[in-house]
Parts: sequence; structure tokens; C-alpha cells
Amino acid sequence: MQLHLSSWPEIDKYLETSKAIVIPIGSTEQHGPNGLLGTDALCPEIIARRAGDDSGILVGPTFNVGQAQHHMAFPGTITLRPSTMIAAMMDWAQSLTRHGFERIYWLNGHGGNINTINAAFSEMYHGISFGEAGTNKPPLRCMLRNWWELSGVMDVCKQLFPVGEGSHATPSEVSVTYFGYPEAVKRVEMSPKIAPNGPIFDAEDYRRRFPDGRIGSDPSQASVEAGEKIVNAAVKAVIAEFQRFAAS
Ligand code: NI
Repeated sequence: MQLHLSSWPEIDKYLETSKAIVIPIGSTEQHGPNGLLGTDALCPEIIARRAGDDSGILVGPTFNVGQAQHHMAFPGTITLRPSTMIAAMMDWAQSLTRHGFERIYWLNGHGGNINTINAAFSEMYHGISFGEAGTNKPPLRCMLRNWWELSGVMDVCKQLFPVGEGSHATPSEVSVTYFGYPEAVKRVEMSPKIAPNGPIFDAEDYRRRFPDGRIGSDPSQASVEAGEKIVNAAVKAVIAEFQRFAAS
């Protein structure tokens, strides 16, 4: 079930049985020569939508622009300042709590978002303590899960790509997007085959260290079939974890 494809009476009805929602959250940033700019938003979205279709859990719209400053030397990347992202996440959460949601499961697709997402949770909880202390309203609870850390997913990725997984523009994440959008598959020769590794500082330095955008990866291995295997493992794990969280 997807919020933006539902009517308000349907959401009203859903709230009678559950106060929990999944929000896919990601980034719009370069993902190497054959990866889509939307990769980090598309991966959690593809997984969450499948989970929603299979189990009836409610999936909200994707928060699809995040912390991508270090990718700004590549065309197409869009980024938010951390303060803007925190403010926007708070407004999304407050809108949902206004309607009665009490559990928000943020399924994240971008490592660069983690610090800011946790800071946003802290701002939300401060707002509740300072603004609504003494009320009997049940408190909002948020949970962050990076999709690649879902139970069993990393094992599947390691099996599929024992060499050249790397840490940015990985064959696993590119495969997930190819499974979701097979019409977007791109065949590109990579040189070197496996990209260099190294630290991340700011945008200009990033492009000097990683000229085609990849870090440690060989995403030319990506395929629709691999993406399907990863998504199947992730969907199963999301449904189980979301249901535990919703009941917590
Ligand atoms: Ni990524």
C-alpha cells in the first residue's frame, strides 16, 4: 500500500489497524558511469514498495534528496544542507504524527545521510519533550535501517559479487535499480576495472580521487537478475523488521 496512491479515507482506515509507516529515504547523486543518479533513493523505494505490495504495510513518498555535498563536482547531483534536511524530515514526521502515526521506519539508501537522519530524530524527540511535556499523547518513535544492513542482504551481495563490490556505485545497488527499471540498464566499459579506494572529503577532492565517481567498485557486473535476488532478500527482512517495530 502506497500513501500517495491512496485516498484519505483509505489512510483513515489503515490508521485503525496500524500506526506505523515506512518512509524510503535516499539521495540524488552521481553513481559512476553506469549507475543512475537516483540510485540511493530508488533502492529503498523499490524494496519498500515491494514490501508494501506483498504485506499491506503502508509506504510513504520517498524523501529523495539528501546529503550529497561530496558528489557536487558531478553534474546532476542535488544536495540539501544538513539543517534543511533535518527541518524537512521534522515537517514530514509532524505531518504524519498529526494524523496519528506513532512509528516511522526510515528505510535509508545512502550512507552519507546517516548522521543527519540521527540528528533529525534527536530534534524530533526534543520537540516532543519541550513542546508536549505532560500530555498523554503517545510518543513518536523513529527507526533508521540502511537497506544493505537488512538481515541476510549482505550475504546475498557477497555471494553475487565477491570481487569489486566497493563502497560507492556498487554492483549491488546498481543491480537493484536495474531490477526496478530494466529499461535503464547501461552497458559501460570501466577503466580501471575496479575503482580506487580512499577517504571522502569535499566535492572537488572527491572528483580528483575518484574521477569517474566510483569508490572501490566494479558496477559493470550489475544485472537485473542479481537485483532481483537482492530485492527478494531485502523485502522479506523489511516486512519482518517493520512488523516488530510497529508492535513495539
Ligand atoms: Ni549509493
